[in-house]
Amino acid sequence: MESISLNYNFVLDYLSEEEIFKDFEIAKKHLTDLINKTTTFSDYIGWIDYASNLQKEDLNEILEYAEELRDKIEVLVVIGIGGSYLGTRAILEMVRKNFYYLQKKENEIEVVFAGNNINEDYLHDLISVLDNYEYGVVVVSKSGTTTEPSIAFRIINHHIEQKYGVKEASKRIYCVTDKQKGLLKKLADEKGYKTFYIPHNIGGRYSVLTPVGLLPLAIAGVDIEQLIKGAIFMEKNLTQNLSNSNIAITYALIRNALYKTKNKLIEILVSYNPKMFYFLEWWKQLFGESEGKNGKGIFPASALFTTDLHSLGQLIQEGNKIFFETILNVEKSLSHLIIPYDENNIDELNYISYKKIGEINHLATLGTLIAHSSDNVPCVLINIPTLTEKYIGQLIYFFELSCAISGLLLGVNPFNQPGVEAYKNNLFALLGKPGFENKTNYLRKIIEEKLNK
Ligand code: PA5
Repeated sequence: MESISLNYNFVLDYLSEEEIFKDFEIAKKHLTDLINKTTTFSDYIGWIDYASNLQKEDLNEILEYAEELRDKIEVLVVIGIGGSYLGTRAILEMVRKNFYYLQKKENEIEVVFAGNNINEDYLHDLISVLDNYEYGVVVVSKSGTTTEPSIAFRIINHHIEQKYGVKEASKRIYCVTDKQKGLLKKLADEKGYKTFYIPHNIGGRYSVLTPVGLLPLAIAGVDIEQLIKGAIFMEKNLTQNLSNSNIAITYALIRNALYKTKNKLIEILVSYNPKMFYFLEWWKQLFGESEGKNGKGIFPASALFTTDLHSLGQLIQEGNKIFFETILNVEKSLSHLIIPYDENNIDELNYISYKKIGEINHLATLGTLIAHSSDNVPCVLINIPTLTEKYIGQLIYFFELSCAISGLLLGVNPFNQPGVEAYKNNLFALLGKPGFENKTNYLRKIIEEKLNK
């Protein structure tokens, strides 16, 4: 199988090989501990060999239930937030055609997302739309208690039961949650919803290649077998090669060296393909939530080029250089279009007539790479042969593994997210959730002083 690859030649203008690989032995030890599950965090690393351990019957069960729901729906509502949603959306948008909704065939499924915000208009508009379509729901929450998806599910659950009756509604709802605990599990058991399980040792942002992503993606018609094949390929590639040609180790080492020795506090992940917008979002969550703790962490930012070259481009070229760039370079387009020759040539574009658009995008990538990297922006290139399921599976596994190694090199626990609790607790206190009363008065006082004066 062809593979994604890493090119760090443009980083070498800023860091020597010696500087990059200074902590190679430490990174290698972290990787070995992850593989052998001998790290302190072994309770969180089920994702490391999940794909290769996935049983045929588990995959078939997902495919069968997906088919059953597909047969009766036009729209799938995927409810979830953070790691329970971003990966699904990222993969779906990468594999579907642009403008999918304008060209989908009769039996294809439109996917909409809910539970990733608490916006009243959003939910109201969604419910109105759902009045007019045959639909089903996949609700994903590992903890089963997250506020945003719980609110969305309460509302959509009422709607679907009113629309189809309780019995039929229960056949149109699939849950993905923890096997043992959580309110979603309790609700699913009571109502008899088909439930798929997220292994206890896989955290949200490392879970897209479990039923969290596989189930909704299968319903949407994505080739989940190829995704898994890609992930297995990358798992073998990265866990059986403990040399300095291991791209997960190399990427983790480069990030840490730039952060620790060159004051590169921000990493901008760049794509030249607008279908990757949500992949950039998935990556930001993966690295942001994994590394941002104990006063440490590279801030993960993103940009879509060439679009953002006309907004952020100025700052990247000439601003305060506290960042480096990682470019997702998709090598081959899936379709071809050339610039036509024009006799009048009023737009003066004949010098590029007969060139493929992909070729021009590629040259824009190279031109930008050289412009940025020659002006104090170290650039890492990640080459992706094409944007299809098997390479996406590879890419996801690559980033998950490098994120774990990178976080460990940084000296943080890359698998928890204690900082997310602060906003949640304040929201609960303000909503008057039982158990949070002590905080309510304190928060109200601040609001009075700072906002209502
Ligand atoms: O990565 C994580 O663990 C988080 O981003 C979670 O995915 C997110 O908070 C949603 O949690 P849950 O699946 O429990 O609803």
